[in-house]
Amino acid sequence: MCGIVAYVGPKQAYPILINGLKKLEYRGYDSAGIALLNSSLNVYKTKGKVSELENFVKDVDLRGTIGIAHTRWATHGEPNQANAHPHYSQSREIALIHNGIIENYGLLRKELETRGYTFQSTTDTEVLTNLIEDIKNNEHVSLFDAVRIALNQVIGAYAIVVISYDDPDTLIAARKGSPLVIGIGKDDYYVASDATPIIEYTKNVVYLDDEEVALIQRSSDLKIKTIRNQEKTPYVQQLEMNLTALEKGGYEHFMLKEIYEQPFSIKDSMRGRLHTELGTVSLGGIVDFEPKILAASRIIIVACGTSWHAGLVGEYLFEDLARIPVEVEYASEFRYRNPVINESDVVIAISQSGETADTLAAIELAKSKGATILGICNVVGSSIARATHGGSYTHAGPEIGVASTKAFTAQVTLLTLMALRMASLKGTLSRTRYMQILHALELIPEKVAQTLILSKKTVYEVAEKFKDVRNFLYLGRGYNFPVALEGALKLKEISYIHAEGYPAAEMKHGPIALIDEDMPVVFIATNKGTYDKVVSNIQEVKARKGQVIAIVTEGDTIVKGMADYIIEIPETEEMLVPLLATIPLQKLSYHIAVMRGCNVDQPRNLAKSVTVE
Ligand code: F6R
Repeated sequence: MCGIVAYVGPKQAYPILINGLKKLEYRGYDSAGIALLNSSLNVYKTKGKVSELENFVKDVDLRGTIGIAHTRWATHGEPNQANAHPHYSQSREIALIHNGIIENYGLLRKELETRGYTFQSTTDTEVLTNLIEDIKNNEHVSLFDAVRIALNQVIGAYAIVVISYDDPDTLIAARKGSPLVIGIGKDDYYVASDATPIIEYTKNVVYLDDEEVALIQRSSDLKIKTIRNQEKTPYVQQLEMNLTALEKGGYEHFMLKEIYEQPFSIKDSMRGRLHTELGTVSLGGIVDFEPKILAASRIIIVACGTSWHAGLVGEYLFEDLARIPVEVEYASEFRYRNPVINESDVVIAISQSGETADTLAAIELAKSKGATILGICNVVGSSIARATHGGSYTHAGPEIGVASTKAFTAQVTLLTLMALRMASLKGTLSRTRYMQILHALELIPEKVAQTLILSKKTVYEVAEKFKDVRNFLYLGRGYNFPVALEGALKLKEISYIHAEGYPAAEMKHGPIALIDEDMPVVFIATNKGTYDKVVSNIQEVKARKGQVIAIVTEGDTIVKGMADYIIEIPETEEMLVPLLATIPLQKLSYHIAVMRGCNVDQPRNLAKSVTVE
């Protein structure tokens, strides 16, 4: 939520900042702004997207070699120009950008008002800006110390960058709970919410830790202290990200590119981990924790949104293959419901961004009770990856489209590998069965590529036929139940059509009342597990004149005879079907959203990385 970019060095800051904002726009896009320091400190900001900011500043003097910029996802105050960042302090000598929420801003604002401060916005951020100015002036300290002292008074989450007219060579950056990366160039510094705006300039980066404040000065070494004034040595890491991964590569949207990348991203998730020739699975990041998992009374999976759906597939996998009991929890519920957690529990946190505030809080809670915490994250070096005891990266590559696609299939791939590893350690599968699944998993990338081709024509036809409906129902059973949930989520978030996912058998306990000739019902009706039962559920829908769109195994004849539309996917093992069946559902949502004229990569009200509760 919210994208932050800042620059100090010999180059002109504006082009770096505006390009950086475009790369971070997936984090929030309801308003944008920039502050540049030349002979004065100038803030330009506007409601709307980064392109609107570009338009807004086209006639102003944009010179300056130091600046900060922000693209916002509103938390406090509606998305308008006044609430957009950067925020000036009262004297206009300081400007600040912020990602996060200052929870005690109301109290701080009241105190500042009694000292004569007035506010131009309803944001928590402007309160922090004035608090820093107040401390700087009254305690006669440097800008760095003023930021540090102010942050000791703040409750909540923040990633901030501060710039001051009095200090034209200095940026101050700090974080707690929201990510911030500092890129170290030859003679300059870049700051951003994630590494994507930095990678084209430098691969040397420092990830700030919680409660750290960085003093970033032109022609000086980077200095870091904690907010309690303890010196820290910056730990410089090398970025491994590839620049082309951040481009659309000829596709109309990032989402479409990411859907088509899945044969490769799934392969990358398995690389060096699945050794079919040896009959082994090895996951370096969890190997030390295998005895813990084997001894665990249960695994608790915590996640949100699409990652939670991956977690549900994980539940089926761990229980089915390795006979380990699993509970899958919405991180947002888990953290507040006083859950029973003990030292024998293993918690797996799943997150694409690695920054989701609720998932992070769930991890902290479980950690405080002594549980072992493993992570499945996509973003290397992210907060969740660092907060866990161990875990594995999905290696799906940067996911820019707000709707998660390749991250989901990579998460499911990793969960499959983990469950198989545990199954082999526990001996819960015969060697023959285990090897069959390993071989089938190895073929999945190829089958995803086939699915993309097989489903192309029909998915497009279905999208054209149903693009104007108001409701959709998605039904599946067993491993395909989470697929139904994920299909429905994908559709609603990017096309704004109301969609519900249900276990198919639950239909008759309520949702069946919705079915008439206008209701499209997507069935995931592949040929294993509860296939016969799902066939009966399809008949129940047809009997009420519902329109059936069925995802079936290639060559299916039974469902073909009943459904209005058939989308075929290749044959595979039952537990691997989610990796294939999800693909046409992603494409269906994509085409419907495009046909409805929706902004596929940046759907309304959403942001890629949910760093606030
Ligand atoms: C849906 C989507 C969200 C995320 C959720 C968790 O397409 O992207 O539902 O899955 O916000 O995000 P991460 O995985 O980054 O923790």
